[in-house]
Amino acid sequence: MTVFTEQTRERAREIIARYPADRSRSALLPLLHLVQSEEGYVSPAGVEFCAEVLGLNKAQVGAVATFYTMYKRKPTGDFLVSVCTNTMCNVLGGQQVYDTLAEHLGVGHDETTADGKITLEHAECLAACDYGPVMTVNYDFFDNVDAQTALGVVEELRAGGRPMPTRGARLCTLKEMAVQLAGFADERDGAVADGGPGEPSLRGLRLAEQHGISVSGFDPNTPIRSKAEADQAAAEAKAKAEAAKPAPAAEPARPAAVTGSTAPDVKAPDDKSPQVRTAETRQPDAGTAVPDAPGTKVPTDGAPPAPRDAQAAEAAGAAANPPAGDGKPAGDDAGAQQRNLKEAQK
Ligand code: FES
Repeated sequence: MTVFTEQTRERAREIIARYPADRSRSALLPLLHLVQSEEGYVSPAGVEFCAEVLGLNKAQVGAVATFYTMYKRKPTGDFLVSVCTNTMCNVLGGQQVYDTLAEHLGVGHDETTADGKITLEHAECLAACDYGPVMTVNYDFFDNVDAQTALGVVEELRAGGRPMPTRGARLCTLKEMAVQLAGFADERDGAVADGGPGEPSLRGLRLAEQHGISVSGFDPNTPIRSKAEADQAAAEAKAKAEAAKPAPAAEPARPAAVTGSTAPDVKAPDDKSPQVRTAETRQPDAGTAVPDAPGTKVPTDGAPPAPRDAQAAEAAGAAANPPAGDGKPAGDDAGAQQRNLKEAQK
């Protein structure tokens, strides 16, 4: 098993210290980048390390690590080459770029060349459709690529070169990139670069300007308000709207009951959608307990279920799922499951 270095442990403590003491689990994302910076991927040892330093269990860490594609679950090459094959790039030749690289490198999706240098993957939209087809190397962009330029980039990388991406800083290895993503400065020369938006991204703005189109009342210099200021403004707007409401009209006098009528009672129309009715039947009040949640007692006499204390529920769940220190992932404790089931059936 990998033993993480003292420097990594020191950095882990620094990351955790960035968050409030009772919110340390928020440090999980940068911590996963941190372990990836040491091993090149999030190994089982990396998962255990994160669980240990955050007091979580391995299943909780694994659930996050497997959700985000930037966390690699098996050894990955020095350079992760991602080719966008989503709709826009695809119609512009993205698939051809991917196929050419796959054939040249002799690897498929999420596979690494034998020299450990390049991992190839096809990617969903890389959020640069205006530069399509695009590919990234360790998340730095190469815009408007074709098969030949893509081949040139990977060959230069395999030969030990560091080609300059179209935008951003010079390329670094995946491990070096993971250090940055964990929130630590990269001190190398040219490791960080910035730049304004390119002309393709500004095309819509230019057209709007040419045609005199503007959004009425939009002031790009409007300062961004703090949350307290925004809350206060919302409260004032609400109070103003309440004050402007017309007073409710007096209830009209009911007509005298018609005796002897044979007309059937007519119910008020129910204009709720079937989905809303179903949701209300399942959970009459979002503030009340969820009927099928373990530990929730659903009364059978029609009384509304008692609200469940969220903190107590969380504490009970944590107690039933000990952290990774004991080597067991969540859900392995059959006793806890039985207790939950019994509680739910009471
Ligand atoms: S479709 Fe390729 S970047 Fe959006």
